[in-house]
Parts: sequence; structure tokens; C-alpha cells
Amino acid sequence: MRIELNHALCQGHARCAALAPELFELDDNGYVITESHEISAAAEPAALLAAKVCPEKVISVRG
Ligand code: F3S
Repeated sequence: MRIELNHALCQGHARCAALAPELFELDDNGYVITESHEISAAAEPAALLAAKVCPEKVISVRG
């Protein structure tokens, strides 16, 4: 399971880090700086929720 981020789309809504601070880190302006990375199965629900609530569709979760 993997989180993929398209940083070019991020507008700094910060919902991802609010929901899952263990998975997403923001810069000082509120833009996500976390790189695409593998996640555990336990982190999948939080990752899917973050992907759903990001209004810019920055985040995707792939199996
Ligand atoms: Fe950016 Fe979406 Fe998070 S716009 S800061 S990836 S909620």
C-alpha cells in the first residue's frame, strides 16, 4: 500500500495533516511536503480518508 502525492496540485488546505498528522507533514505555509511513500495496512483507513477530504485531489492511495 502506498500514498502518492501530486505536490503541484496542493493549495494548502491542510485537511490531510489535520486528519492524519502521522502521515502528512506541512511546510510553514501549510502546503504538504511529505513525499510519496509506502504505508502499513493499519494506516490505510487514515490515508484513504485524507485522500477523500483533500479538495485538490493531491493524495491517492494505491495497493
Ligand atoms: Fe494540500 Fe490537500 Fe493537504 S490541498 S495541504 S494535500 S488537504
